[in-house]
Amino acid sequence: MKTYLGAAFVLAISATPLFAQDVAAGGDLYNDNCAICHGNKGEGYPKEVVPDGAVRIKKLAGDSAYWDFAVFKSAVVDGMDDHGKPMRVMPVFGKVGYFTPAGGIPTDDDIKNIQAYIQTLAPKG
Ligand code: HEC
Repeated sequence: MKTYLGAAFVLAISATPLFAQDVAAGGDLYNDNCAICHGNKGEGYPKEVVPDGAVRIKKLAGDSAYWDFAVFKSAVVDGMDDHGKPMRVMPVFGKVGYFTPAGGIPTDDDIKNIQAYIQTLAPKG
């Protein structure tokens, strides 16, 4: 029995592509660090409900979910928008670290996983 389980484990590992994104891990990071502002479904806030002059929390689903990795990373780690301008409210996670795990600095893998997760929330559009 023990041998059988061992073989199944090896099979499961070798069936996973080497650089596959971990959507579940990305979902955990998203829910712990992003959903509080961007919403459980990455929906953000529509223009109509945000008062003039206030910073609008952007929709991620179907939008920046599909940005090039480097641009998306720069938003999360450096707090830069897709025009290279500093954002105003979005936390600079590369400096302040995650809420959970507290103070953890996002790695490239984390950011790929988060982006893979939010891609599951809506198609590109
Ligand atoms: C405190 C609220 C808050 C949290 C938490 C937060 N964001 Fe944001 N985010 C914003 C706001 C507000 C903007 C709009 C830009 C600004 O701040 O000026 C934004 C913008 C963005 C953008 C750019 C979107 C665009 O279309 O321009 C991305 C990408 C993004 N956030 C991803 C994330 C991810 C991923 C996380 C979690 C790791 C996260 N945000 C956590 C508030 C937040």
